[in-house]
Order: sequence, then C-alpha cells, then structure tokens
Amino acid sequence: MNEVLKVGLIGLGTVGQGVVRVLATNAEEIAQRAGRRIVVTDASVRDASRARDCDLSGIRLHADPFAVVNADVDVIVELIGGISPAQELIAAAIARGKPVVTANKALIAERGNEILAAARAQGVLLAFEAAVAGGIPIIKVLREGLTANHIDSLAGIINGTCNYILTQMTAKGQSFAAALADAQKLGYAEADPTFDVEGIDAAHKLAILASIAFGMPLQFAAVATEGLSKVQAQDIQLARELGYRIKSLGIAKRSARGVELRVHPTLVPEDHLLAKTDGALNAIRVHGNAVGQTVYVGRGAGGEPTASAVIADLIDVARLVGADARHFVPALGFGADTLRALPTLAFADIESAYYLRLQVADEPGVLRAITSILAELDISVEAILQKEPRDDEDATLAIISSEIPEHRCDLALAKLRELPFVRPDVSRLRVEHFA
Ligand code: HSE
Repeated sequence: MNEVLKVGLIGLGTVGQGVVRVLATNAEEIAQRAGRRIVVTDASVRDASRARDCDLSGIRLHADPFAVVNADVDVIVELIGGISPAQELIAAAIARGKPVVTANKALIAERGNEILAAARAQGVLLAFEAAVAGGIPIIKVLREGLTANHIDSLAGIINGTCNYILTQMTAKGQSFAAALADAQKLGYAEADPTFDVEGIDAAHKLAILASIAFGMPLQFAAVATEGLSKVQAQDIQLARELGYRIKSLGIAKRSARGVELRVHPTLVPEDHLLAKTDGALNAIRVHGNAVGQTVYVGRGAGGEPTASAVIADLIDVARLVGADARHFVPALGFGADTLRALPTLAFADIESAYYLRLQVADEPGVLRAITSILAELDISVEAILQKEPRDDEDATLAIISSEIPEHRCDLALAKLRELPFVRPDVSRLRVEHFA
C-alpha cells in the first residue's frame, strides 16, 4: 500500500504520544481499514527537551503550532485543548482546505457552531470523536448507529475524575482531596481540576452529545451544573443504605416542555449499570424509541483510549480523501439546515425525585412536622431512613421523595429550614430511576 495520509499533530502530550504509539503498533490493520497508511510527519511541541513515551523518528518537530498547519500534511490533529490558540489553528487549517481531527471538547461545545459552519463552507471534514468519553465511540453511536431513533434521553458518567473520586470515597472512605490528588497523578484530571469537580468538563461533553441526539445547535450555555462539593461522606453512606450509589451524571432529556441539560451528583439505583461503573471509567445510557435502553462503558480518558477515538476519525478522513463533501456524515448527525435551537429548562423547571438529608433534634413530633410539610406540598415520601442519635447528638434523617417539580422541592426545603428543630446543614441531591 503506497498511498499515505500525512498527519500533522498539534500537541505531543499524553494523547498525542498515544496517537503516535497506536499508529505504530496497529499500522498494518489501520492501513487495511483506511485504504492507505496513516503516518505522523509533523508535530508541534511546547518543550522539545521533554522525554516522550513514543518513537518520534521520522517526525519533524516544530515549536510553532502554525508551522504544522502550513507543513506538507493532509490532515491536522489538534490536541492542545482550550479555546485559543486552538480555534485560530483550526480556522487556519480549514481555510487551507485541510481536514481537522480534534479532541477539544471545550472548543467544540463553546465555539462549535461557528467552527462547523466554516468547515461546511469549505467542504472540509471536522471530526471530534475524542472530545467525548475518550475511547467510547459515542459520537458515532448517536450520529450513525442509532440514527433511526427518536432519542428522548441520555445520561452518562462522562467525567472520569469525578467518578474516580466518588468511587474512592465510596469504596475506601478516602477524602475528597486525597482522591482528587490521586486522579491528578493518574492523568485523568483537567489542567484546572475545577473543570472536573464543578461539572464544566462534563457540561462541555453533554452539550455535544445533546446536540447530536436531539438535532439542535450546540447550546453549552444552557447546561445547568452542580459540582461534587455538594456530596458529603455521610450522603454516600446513607445513599448506599437506601439502595443507591452517588454518581456525577450528565443528563439530557427532551419533552414537550423543552430540553433539560444538566450535570450534577445523582443517586442512581444500585442495580443499574451506571451505578456499577466505577473508577475512572465512563458510561453512557442512551434511550431511543426503537432500540430502548442501550449502555456504553469504557475508558473515558488517557493516552491510548483517546488515541483510539482520534485514529478512528483519521481513518474516516483517509476513507473520504477526494470524496464530495455532500457524502460526509453531518457533523452533528442532522443536516445543518435542519438543526433547531430548542427551549432549555433551568434547574427550577425540571422534575425529579430528590434525596433530602436533615439533621434534626431528637424530640417527639419532629417526624410528624416534617412529613406534614411534605404532605401539604403534595410530596410523597418514597423511602425514609432515620439514624439513631448517638449520645447527645442530633438524629439524621434521609428521605427519598416522589417525582416533583424542583421549585416545589425548593419550597419544601425553605419551610423545613424554618422548623426550630431542623439544623442548617440540609442536603438535597437529585435521584434518577431511568424508568
Ligand atoms: N478530565 C477528563 C475526565 C478527561 O476526567 O474525564 C477526559 O476528558
């Protein structure tokens, strides 16, 4: 096989090195699938003196990433992340008619509408499988595999760092800070780990998935987020006793009222596959009206899993060399002229079941007063657990509510907080049953 797809790699970090390694290890099979060899000829590096865990022989190294765009390459792979200069580099590649493969979730989620429009106008392929859930080919699943379905909802563990932290806190009783430090050492966390723990990284990924699932432009600003700091060790323990695990989920649902796009710690029934997905793994549940529930599990971060997605996109690029852009699968699954911005719901407008944890004085009548407030607001108690107070301590009460509008849950919490025997430390988390 003599034909070659020459790749210019921008960024030789964990994922870039993974791409070089996997292209070398699987060179023959990749060429058989792609119809040509795929070879990295140029790469940009910030620090050329750093040792790298891959064979760089035959690759021209550049300090300036724009030199890669201008080099004699057929496709640009952008792996530096962030908005700038990634956006300018991709724009320059598109302007030169070069296809682009990127793992940049922030850029696609926040600027994707304009970048994809530019790529369409130039008839250039722009692919971003690696932007969501690393090695799980979830973009292809939504865009191609489930394309016959009306997808009504998806929910996923799409941030490995949060999943790792919650797993360590659940299984080993590790503190939040220690688990986060380990996740950073293992290379799962973002450069700024607040992106992970505050749900921003997952919000980027969710915006991309929802757009492809529902046929709407990227609407990152509409994603409602709540970070992991809401979860205390005792919530993890109480949730277990009630038959749930706590996972940070990205959830997208659509109904006649609009689209919900939200990221938050969530109680998941312990027998659901998402509850059993531990460590840094990712898992995504997609529900389509023809197929029903499908679940995809795999490694969502790390060099080689993410390289698996990057190279899948490169193989698509190789297969489409010379093809008319009208034959490309639309980047967001739906024809660009059919995408419709949909109304999105704020947290206050959603409906959900809730977990409430209250610290209360150990006095007669407390339970009756609490359940009366809930009953007055037409909130049914689905489960309740009271931990016997030790010594002179308060009692702890955990409640799972029926499915209710969130604004009504807020009202109930405000009324409960007014009760003289309810302590200020009240916790509220959302519950998903995937019914
Ligand atoms: N920080 C991300 C995570 C890396 O923890 O999932 C992959 O996007």
